[in-house]
Amino acid sequence: MDRNEACWCGSGKKYKKCHMATDEKIALLAEQGEIVPTRDMLKTEEQIQKIRKSADLNTAVLDHVAAHIHAGMSTAAIDKLVYDYTTEHGGIPAPLGYEGFPCSVCTSINNEICHGIPDEGIILEEGDIINVDVSTILNGYFSDASRMFSIGKLSERAERILRVAHECVELGLAAAKPWGHLGDIADAINSHAQSHGYSIVEDIGGHGIGLEFHEEPFVSYVTQKGTEMVLVPGMVFTIEPMVNEGGPDFFVDEENDWTVYTEDDGLSAQVEYMVLVTEDGVEVLSK
Ligand code: MF3
Ligand code: CO
Repeated sequence: MDRNEACWCGSGKKYKKCHMATDEKIALLAEQGEIVPTRDMLKTEEQIQKIRKSADLNTAVLDHVAAHIHAGMSTAAIDKLVYDYTTEHGGIPAPLGYEGFPCSVCTSINNEICHGIPDEGIILEEGDIINVDVSTILNGYFSDASRMFSIGKLSERAERILRVAHECVELGLAAAKPWGHLGDIADAINSHAQSHGYSIVEDIGGHGIGLEFHEEPFVSYVTQKGTEMVLVPGMVFTIEPMVNEGGPDFFVDEENDWTVYTEDDGLSAQVEYMVLVTEDGVEVLSK
């Protein structure tokens, strides 16, 4: 587009004062053989504002769960907390009805890696570790983050994997830089997990998000530093490695077709941050 035309992003600014420099940099990197984001992966200022509001509600839902989760409650009660809080604040739980998912939130306990379905019959017990994965639609914009919760006093084993899962995401975040690579994040995460004898699930990963629940790119946490897509300001995606105590292999529940378990029955922990790449860093939108 012409340098004096209004920028494609709708900012109202001239192209030369807006995305021109970024577009030129991306084109050069592509010529050098780098994997670069397409235009729809670069959120505009207006979209970012709306995504941010969705993310703020998502974080508030997680805070609400944090304030009420306790031993003896069912995972269906967590589902109700999420549904009620989200809808009372004008949002829609993104998982509800997503590809047939029957509930408002994923609740994955102990050896469950992800996509656990809340149920009246699943009661939180002392010593459990649980991932509560909350995703929200607000005014058509999507957000996604998850936390680990410990129920009462944990075994040393459970305590350790929770700590390392948190460290993995923090290290991944610290490795994320504009004009760096997705593989930098993955390498930081995978190296840390491996240094504790843990593994990272390979076939399930993170994703772009904002205008849809799951957008390109797929984000792996087992790739090498300096590889994969270049991180460009305006990209919004999740950092959500699944950390397994034993091997990375898993199987999916044959009855419900959702819940993912560790193949070797080891513990699994996952922390998910939703992040935005900015001109000078990476901002956490929801965690
Ligand atoms: N929050 C999960 C994810 O990262 C969503 C799983 S789909 C669902 O991407 F339907 F199970 F919610
Ligand atoms: Co996600």
